[in-house]
Parts: sequence; structure tokens; C-alpha cells
Amino acid sequence: MVENLKVKYDFKLDTIYCGDNEIVLKRFPPKSVDLIYIDPPFFSNQQYEILWKDGYEIQAYKDRWEGGIEKYIDWMKPKIELLYRVLKDSGSFYLHCDYHASAYLKVLCDKIFGNGDNNIGRTYFKNEIVWCYSGREHPKSKVFPRKHDIILFYVKNKKNYTFNPEFGSYRPEYIKNFFKEKDEDGRLYQTQPNGKGGNGYGNKGRYRQYLDESKGIRINDWWDDIKPVWHRGQQKEHLGYPTQKPISLLKRIIETSSNVGDIVLDSFCGCGTTLVASKELNRRFIGIDVSPLACDEIATRIGYSKLNIIGQKYSISELKKMNHFTFQYWFVRRIGGTPNPRKTGDKGIDGKVDTKKELNCPIEIKQHNITRPDVDKFETVIKRNNKKTGYMGAFEFTKGAIEEIARFKREEKLTIIPIIVKDLFKNEPKKYGIIEKDKLKTVNISKFLKKQ
Ligand SMILES: C[S@@+](CC[C@H](N)C(=O)[O-])C[C@H]1O[C@@H](n2cnc3c(N)ncnc32)[C@H](O)[C@@H]1O
Repeated sequence: MVENLKVKYDFKLDTIYCGDNEIVLKRFPPKSVDLIYIDPPFFSNQQYEILWKDGYEIQAYKDRWEGGIEKYIDWMKPKIELLYRVLKDSGSFYLHCDYHASAYLKVLCDKIFGNGDNNIGRTYFKNEIVWCYSGREHPKSKVFPRKHDIILFYVKNKKNYTFNPEFGSYRPEYIKNFFKEKDEDGRLYQTQPNGKGGNGYGNKGRYRQYLDESKGIRINDWWDDIKPVWHRGQQKEHLGYPTQKPISLLKRIIETSSNVGDIVLDSFCGCGTTLVASKELNRRFIGIDVSPLACDEIATRIGYSKLNIIGQKYSISELKKMNHFTFQYWFVRRIGGTPNPRKTGDKGIDGKVDTKKELNCPIEIKQHNITRPDVDKFETVIKRNNKKTGYMGAFEFTKGAIEEIARFKREEKLTIIPIIVKDLFKNEPKKYGIIEKDKLKTVNISKFLKKQ
């Protein structure tokens, strides 16, 4: 990828850096973040893995499509070395991957973080976390259905790192098998070694652990209590993005390995799950993604006014050349709206957006300049939808179009808000009267972008 040296990446908190992480990370000061989580793409299946499909993301993949695992590891190595550099001495590093590359990535990370003396508890490698889930299975496939991801957990200093253990509820069978004793008041307990003498067996050197006083069971290194976003019941969170991770997964990692006010970095942040979780847990966040579409998506998800975006943006000429549906998608998301995934029969509505006065106002986007007849057609759309406000977006509006918009306002009391692409780079959605939402409306990104 061509390094854009004109872009200056000052180290700023609560910020999304839009660019290749290898370039951005080089400009960060060393030992500056407390926790890193990454979920890099693995080139197992292009269609599935390339989400944003914009020039920037495709460029980031291009030369690694053919190279196989060695090429992939060569690509990851400098990135993990740079992440190691920006991690504080007390920091932790989590790498999310799956069976395709986990063994290779483990060897790579062992080399970067060091092997320690390889005794349990004394290495920089702390855990191989297995995130288990269920989902549709192919009845005829000749493998055991693959239903887990791997998260490798490393620290930079073997002795000094944040670790806040999490406790979960006891399962009924655990209570039945271990809390077998009852005291004179009927309280259930089990005995545990107290570490103060005796061999931990018999009554000597043991204490009573009461069920009603227990914090619960320690969360171990296989997690089967977090559902993927595409699971039934999780749809509210699902943006339709195939590799989107659940907020609760990130919350577990962030709560365990950082404290309030700490800095969390995700250098492959996709639609920003790590950043959303960090914000909800009062941590400071930094996200990096190579795709401007991803960066706008995150800003829509978190709120433009609640973060900074630094780095590459689409140029006007790129936007002009962009596939029409991607352009529509980009525009509608950029103003905080929900795109209409229908390719045909959309009845002139490319998306909807909420204002303080009215919900679901129609949006129409044109990749050419908007003229008077376009405005006339859109007026019909607004009326058909019983709305008083609508948004139109384009590169330019002709004089006739602007006059027509003014006439509708005067004579029909209809408000059409024209948005010019170049103003979008400067203005936040609220400038156009649009409400910034805390929760993004579900929109199936992948379905929508497939139409390219
Ligand atoms: C698997 S997704 C991350 C998903 C994320 N964990 C989530 O929950 O939304 C990987 C992301 O890495 C980004 N990416 C790929 N190569 C990159 C690079 N060199 N620098 C920065 N981001 C990159 C892609 O654009 C994609 O959004």
C-alpha cells in the first residue's frame, strides 16, 4: 500500500484512524496503550472476509490473496511488532483468530513477546481462549462442525499486568457435585484448602466456602456463554457484518485486562465493536481501519460528536467512480440514516433518517447533479410517505433544483434539505437537523453491499 505521508497521525484518544495500521502505528509513541485487541482478517474466503469492498480495503488484501499462509504471516509480523511497541509494559494483547491461522500466529506471537522460561504462569503467553458457539451445521460434511474461535492472550510483563478475574454463576450440576455439605442452619458449603497448613485434605488447613457468600465460578479459558451476533435474540446488535464480534465478548476482555480510564486499541476495528465496548466501560479508545466506509460506520454507531476521525477520506473523484449502491450506502450512513437494501422497487427512497420533529424521513441520493425534475419526483415521494421533510444528496444541485426546493417550502410547507457531498466532509449529521443516535438501527450491511 502506498504510504500517504501527508497524513499526520497525532496520537489522540477517542479517535478512529482511517488508514493502513502499519502506517498509522509507526507514528504512535511507544508504550502508550494499556490493552490491545485485534481481530485481523484471515484470507480464508474473500467473499466472506472482504466486507467494505472499497478500494482501500481491496488494496489491503490484494497481494496476499494468492500467497497462502506464509504470505499472511509475513503480512501480520510487522503489524504485531508495531503493536508490541505501542503496548505499555503493564499492557495486555489479545489476538482473535481461528483454526486457519491460530497455530502460525501463536508461533509468531511467541517470538515477538518472548517465550519466558516456559513454565506455566511464567511465560508472556497467558491463555489460548476458546470461544465456543453453536450454529447451522451441514449434515453431510465430513468434519466435526467447526464451532469455535481462538483468542491468544499475551502480556508484556509477566508479573505486572492488569487482571480482574470475572466470576460466572455456578451451573446446577456444579452446585450438586461440590456444595454437598449443609451446616446447622441449612446453608450449603464446600471445603477448600486455605493454604495455611495441613495438606489441604481432611479438615486441617481447610475452610468452609458457603454458596450464598461465593462470588461464583471463575470464568475459565473456554467461553460458551457468549452468543455470536447472528444468533437468535442478538439481532438488535447485529449489523449484518459477517465478522462482527459481540459487544459482550469485548466487554469481558476489556473488564478483565484494563481499568476505568485505560487506553484500549483495536487496529483492525471493522465496525467498531471494541470501541463501542470500551466507551460503555469508560475506557479511552483508539481504532484503526483501512476502509473509510468502516470508519464512517463506526462514527455513525458511536456518534460523530463523540469521537475524532483522522486520516484518509474518499476523494470526490473516488466517490464519483464508486459503485452506485456503495455510494448510496456510504452517503446514507454518513448522515446517520438507515439505507434501503432494495435494489429495485425502492420507490425513490434510498434510506431513512430521523429528525427531532419527524421519524423515518426519506432520503434520496444521486450520483449525478440534482436537477429540478429530480426535486419534483422527490416531492411526490415525501407526500406519498406522509412526511414533511426529506433529504436529497448529490455532488451538486442545479440552480433550478434549489429554486424548486425553495418553492416547495413556500407553497407546500415541505422541507427538502439538500446535502452536497463536499459539505459532508465538514459537517456532522446534526448540522442537517438529524438526530445522532446512541443505538444504530439494524441494517444488513453484507446483503446491501453484495449488490455491487
Ligand atoms: C475481521 S474485521 C474486524 C471486525 C471487528 N472485530 C468487528 O467486530 O467489527 C477486519 C477489519 O480489518 C480491516 N483491515 C484489513 N487490513 C487492514 C490494515 N492493513 N489496516 C487497518 N485495517 C485493516 C478491514 O477493513 C476490516 O474492517
